[in-house]
Amino acid sequence: MEKNIGYLPGDGIGPEVAAEAKKALEAVAEKFGHKFNFTEALVGAVAIDETGDPYPAETHKVCQESDAILFGAIGHPKYDNDPSAAVRPEEGLLRMRKSLGLFCNIRPVKAYSVLEDFSPLKKERISGADLVVFRELTSGLYFGSPRGRTEDGKAAFETCNYTAEEITRIAKMAFEAARNRRNKVTLVDKANVLVTSRLWREVVTKLHADEYSDVELDYLFVDNAAMQMILNPKQFDVILTENLFGDIISDESSVIAGSLGLLPSASVGSSVGLYEPIHGSAPDIAGQNLANPSAAILSAAMLLESSFGLVEEAKAIISAVDEALNTGFVTKDINKESTVGTKEFGDRIVELIKK
Ligand code: IPM
Ligand code: MN
Repeated sequence: MEKNIGYLPGDGIGPEVAAEAKKALEAVAEKFGHKFNFTEALVGAVAIDETGDPYPAETHKVCQESDAILFGAIGHPKYDNDPSAAVRPEEGLLRMRKSLGLFCNIRPVKAYSVLEDFSPLKKERISGADLVVFRELTSGLYFGSPRGRTEDGKAAFETCNYTAEEITRIAKMAFEAARNRRNKVTLVDKANVLVTSRLWREVVTKLHADEYSDVELDYLFVDNAAMQMILNPKQFDVILTENLFGDIISDESSVIAGSLGLLPSASVGSSVGLYEPIHGSAPDIAGQNLANPSAAILSAAMLLESSFGLVEEAKAIISAVDEALNTGFVTKDINKESTVGTKEFGDRIVELIKK
């Protein structure tokens, strides 16, 4: 199989972890007889530095012409500390998601048994946890209008918008996914307060009754869900939620896996799929060969499976990561004593894929 992959390393640790994911894809191509052509493009703070735009037209073109996109991370502290910045790196990612129609963000989380001892949570609570967050990605507070500052600058506002259609299309994907898992969907919302959440409940309840009554459906308010995630994560199978709640809940759920550096994600929708670690650009450890590339490498596995239908190839990557972690070959975020760096971890994955 020959495929074109858009390669967008981005900022901070993005280039380091994306390079290891690319290495894994190249190893898979060699082993299974495929050809992957990578086209690199700018996004985020690096794109602002070079072009003034965090998502240049040229990058959009590369994305549209690719069969899938491998993405690193976005963000730079010089913007975080400057609320008045006219353009921000994050805008690049948001515009990319919106303009490519990537409305469904899939974030799987599982507790790795060998890492349970490194988790700040009690082993018996997290052992066996295996869930996936379906986060709506192109609407809600992130995109709603109007938004802005009042003329005197003394107040600011955003709008949370959702249409029934936007809810239905991701809810269908969540129900379908549940059928291939443990057959349960939990809708996380704030329907006791927000009108948009009440629309989510209404639409999801009707869709469930009409088309997915074989799947178990329950509802949790987001504040309670945040607590349940830590108290009893094993109760969750598929979590379905809106954009901002999904952003927060998915970072929280990474504690179950043992590290934010372990969680991959896929953003899919109407066109090409985008695959990225859920973590940010971690500028504090950038350029030091310290970042855990597992999340990026596992994102490459999701890319192979969801965009190219290459199930065996995806398994080869997942097994390699499992084996590395299971044998204690981990980066410092997981075990402070470890001397394994980003590159060494990636090299080990390549070795294991080729084995
Ligand atoms: C994520 C990130 C982004 C988000 C930021 C970088 C805009 O936190 O992918 O979860 O909030 O969606
Ligand atoms: Mn986030």
